[in-house]
Amino acid sequence: RRCLFVTSEMADFVKAGGLGDVSAALPRALRAQADVRVLIPGYPAVLAQAGDMRLVGRVRAHAQLPEALIGYVERHDGLGVYVLLCPPLYEREGSPYVDAEGREWEDNAIRFATFARAAAEIAGGRAGLSWRPHLLHLNDWPSALAAGYAHWAGDRTPTLLTIHNLAYQGLFPHAIADAIGVPANARDALDFHGRLSFLRGGIVHATHISTVSQSYARQITGPVLGCGLDGLLAARAAHGALTGILNGIDASWDPSRDEHLLTHFDIDQWHGKCAHAQYVRYEFGLRDSDGPLFAVVSRLVHQKGLDLICEIAPQIVHAGGQIVVIGQGEPEVERTIAQLARRFPGHVGARVGFCETLARRMFAGSDFLLMPSRFEPCGLSQMYAQRFGSLPIAHATGGLIDTVDDGVTGFLFDEPTADALRRAVVRAFAVYRTPELLNAMRRAAMLTPRGWEIASRQYVDLYEKTARLAA
Ligand code: ADP
Ligand code: GLC
Repeated sequence: RRCLFVTSEMADFVKAGGLGDVSAALPRALRAQADVRVLIPGYPAVLAQAGDMRLVGRVRAHAQLPEALIGYVERHDGLGVYVLLCPPLYEREGSPYVDAEGREWEDNAIRFATFARAAAEIAGGRAGLSWRPHLLHLNDWPSALAAGYAHWAGDRTPTLLTIHNLAYQGLFPHAIADAIGVPANARDALDFHGRLSFLRGGIVHATHISTVSQSYARQITGPVLGCGLDGLLAARAAHGALTGILNGIDASWDPSRDEHLLTHFDIDQWHGKCAHAQYVRYEFGLRDSDGPLFAVVSRLVHQKGLDLICEIAPQIVHAGGQIVVIGQGEPEVERTIAQLARRFPGHVGARVGFCETLARRMFAGSDFLLMPSRFEPCGLSQMYAQRFGSLPIAHATGGLIDTVDDGVTGFLFDEPTADALRRAVVRAFAVYRTPELLNAMRRAAMLTPRGWEIASRQYVDLYEKTARLAA
């Protein structure tokens, strides 16, 4: 089977969150069983690292979507990547979705409609590529509409849409419909409370839908976490068209080998962890301490519950704990975190920004990872922390339920409230004071996260099923 994995970020080039990690790891894991190639927009970071690119195709303009060219590169390990080249849309500094001030690019509808349609054109055989996929694997709202474009073009392209986060729907004014070439009779299907939803278009038109954990797959069919799409998702689930597949983590997350670490360690070699704890304390300007070190590695957005951490931070500090935070996101949350660090100098440290190396050293050096997410489709940070012997303290939601075994490989709490988090932190302090227990939990945690083998087999099965359904 030939499959085009369509994604708006990929850690090889650019990563805003977990989707970047998944897009780098999953296509590679799938290659043993399927002919998978990736399609990504030609952002500056992609062009800078792409090396020798061949021009291999062209997508014609449509409505007000501009023409785009298609480049092809092979990564060092042979993974093929198609790059959608359209300088006015993609060649600008900033993240894939927002500018330097954190504002969404105002032409995001055009940018990602062009991208999604390119995927549909490639699958429809209209982009001039010699390689034609049997199936499109779409990821989140930026590529979701490819399922719509394929349908409107009269193709029977099998499409699998993976939802990594239902809260981001790609909502735009209906007035944009003409410009992006949505046929008049198709607009109702895309409507979400008076706006046009790219994700809804994908959910309606994709052959099959998956999401990144079984618990989240259940939760999004209900009103609490369904983001207003629960009715539609429940209907598709009732027809067997919604599957949960838990993400894995890739082999680079290995404390005995990780090139980002200062020194390596493994189970029971805790001096390597201690060395990183010292480094992290120094790096964040914290005092020496023999209390527990809590880490936060997170996008700073409402979803992640940073406000709950701010609420209980004084208690952690008074009990002798220290907190280090790295993250970026909503300016308001960034300010709150910076204030917290100023309020407790020597005990709380914060870094606003994105740094892969520091993040990995924080997983390695910390005793606990705070992850009070209000919702969490899968979550990778908690698995990385586990692998590096840092015990997650997490809200029992979505993928956190499926990856953290309460009292064994971390701590779970039931409600996304400061009180519930506080009680879990108290339990963590108690474990910290009992080294045999702490080390037993660390051992169990380090052995828990799994790679991509199981997930990739499940995806291949789903590809087969999706192709059969579309036929
Ligand atoms: P989400 O995709 O919702 O952001 P995940 O836990 O799935 O959550 O993935 C987040 C990924 O981004 C992890 O790899 C995490 O380590 C990384 N990450 C988040 N913020 C930062 C940051 N400021 N610096 C470095 N890595 C970060
Ligand atoms: C999303 C989710 C996160 C998940 C990631 C990768 O960003 O917020 O929970 O781990 O996608 O699937």
